[in-house]
Amino acid sequence: MAPIDPHSTTDSSHPLATHISPSLYFDFPSSTILSSALLRLPGPHSGPISLDTRSLVITSVTDPVSATPLPFTLSPSDHIKGQTLTITLTHHSQFLVTFSTSPSSSALQWLSPPQTFNKTLPFVYTQCQSIHARSVFPCQDTPAARVCFSAKLNVPHQLHAVMAARHLERRAPMAGEAGGICDDLVWCGEGRVVEEFVMEQPVPPYLFAFAVGEIGWREVGPRTRVYSEAVSEVLDAAAREFAGTEDMIRVGERLFGPYDWERFDLLVLPPSFPYGGMENPRMVFLTPTVIKGDASGAQVVAHELAHSWTGNLITNKTNDHFWLNEGFTTYAERRIVEAVQGEDIAALNIGIGWKGLTEEMERFKDNMEFTKLKTNQEGVDPDDVYSRVPYEKGFQFIWRIEREIGRPAFDDFLKKYIATYKFQSIDTDMFINFLKVNVPGIENKIDLILWTEGTGIPPDAMEPVSNIYAAIVSLASEFKLGRMPREDEVADWHGQEWELYLENLPKSVEASQVSALDARYRLAESKDYEVKVAFLQLAISSRCKDYYSEVEKTLKEVGRMKYLRPLYTALTQGPGKEEEKIFAKRVFSEARDTYHPIAQGVVESILSKYL
Ligand code: BES
Ligand code: ZN
Repeated sequence: MAPIDPHSTTDSSHPLATHISPSLYFDFPSSTILSSALLRLPGPHSGPISLDTRSLVITSVTDPVSATPLPFTLSPSDHIKGQTLTITLTHHSQFLVTFSTSPSSSALQWLSPPQTFNKTLPFVYTQCQSIHARSVFPCQDTPAARVCFSAKLNVPHQLHAVMAARHLERRAPMAGEAGGICDDLVWCGEGRVVEEFVMEQPVPPYLFAFAVGEIGWREVGPRTRVYSEAVSEVLDAAAREFAGTEDMIRVGERLFGPYDWERFDLLVLPPSFPYGGMENPRMVFLTPTVIKGDASGAQVVAHELAHSWTGNLITNKTNDHFWLNEGFTTYAERRIVEAVQGEDIAALNIGIGWKGLTEEMERFKDNMEFTKLKTNQEGVDPDDVYSRVPYEKGFQFIWRIEREIGRPAFDDFLKKYIATYKFQSIDTDMFINFLKVNVPGIENKIDLILWTEGTGIPPDAMEPVSNIYAAIVSLASEFKLGRMPREDEVADWHGQEWELYLENLPKSVEASQVSALDARYRLAESKDYEVKVAFLQLAISSRCKDYYSEVEKTLKEVGRMKYLRPLYTALTQGPGKEEEKIFAKRVFSEARDTYHPIAQGVVESILSKYL
């Protein structure tokens, strides 16, 4: 009788649901979903069962066989975990919850027609990781619980629904199907259609995902389509950018074992999508900022693809072990990148990651808990402590093991690890035990406790070894002495080289140096947001006010938190920034409605920390 996850109400004495069937009626005018969810248990259960919810209005809980109501209570709201729905069962193996979402449900972004590309129809999509699935339907919202889904989405006929699941059919709504969600006349109203999906492989709730809008697609490979708002230019550009996806899937299969999810489709979301990518199974969600016209967006696809093995097949049991998802995936991503784009590009990515990791040490210098791999997130919102640490320190740990035992042995180890734990949720200790059993004596070579439980960067972590990497880092250090790179030195540079260069410059320089660099290389206008944002961050820290209008434009056109965080932080952190703080507050108040609720929350917490 104990909670199994610091972010969930799920109790060790309760059975875990094996199957959830949501029926969702999308009501765009009110930005709500009228819903029901049937939850099936592995067997009959008597006594209480607790589910996570947030911003849900619960109308009823019933026994679906007898249609009799079941007693339930809803706890007061916890600001991180939400509200616990406790239902009392009497030998029930399933129950039906009827409820509706609210406009503030944190997983959902509702875009009004003017906020879309085509400006004529609305759009809605989910982002459930880490703990937002509970704002779409009541569930045991812990990655320790794996469930299969069958879903019915009732949408206006001008729109299409996509899901991280297998599409079964698009058909007319049927009378009797509404099951108490709404009146049959509403469910079967004119111009409504039902799209049905199933996910037959058990997945953690954070991988539940859908989007509804005016959605089109292009074929890009034998098991890959790219979907986005139905705009020819966007679809064509995306199809070109991601043309190499099948090659990457094949590399993944060679390195990590069979691709178990049948399809690997890509959904390009509107610019407000808060992440670079999200590994929703069968259909990865992507920010449009990865479409740069030079196939470099493949790095994000490589990362999300890699999650098909590390994350979706083997999942962290709770967010305390998030590094198992992201550190392994960052390692796997770089192996795919190395195979398809070469060792130099992989080394640049390792170098950019290394710089990011050292910066996070600075960010968490007063809160060293979050420089550990295995963390304690009791009372902590995972969105607030999201950082590069699980990615890059996790990567460094896996890379360290590879160096110790050699690549061929490590590749065999990795395949065996994946085959052993697939479709399970594991924790750091399980991984360490598996490592010790399969690599006897490893604990005498690598300080496994220091790596997983210690703070900071262990001494045997390392920077990549590569000529291009070293040349760029040394050019960046010469900038401090007043030397700008020459045209011939940067002739072959693409986004990643510039990003690495900018990341390695001092935090702030003379405002005149910022303008001089931009006058020569036009970085503020870069189509590559990684470059543009790294440059704008330098401009803000150097108090080069000429670029503030570009900062404002950027903060208003994208909602990817990787860009919002550093820009809002640079504007508000540190003393004597009165003008910048007022500017940040104004821009946020004007841009807020265009951000996803998760991004709104993150920017609010940055502003409240420094204002
Ligand atoms: N799973 C993450 C995104 C995520 C993490 C969402 C935590 C919510 C909570 C995804 O796989 C990811 O890491 N995306 C990166 C891609 C990058 C590392 C190539 C991103 O969004 O920047
Ligand atoms: Zn990831």
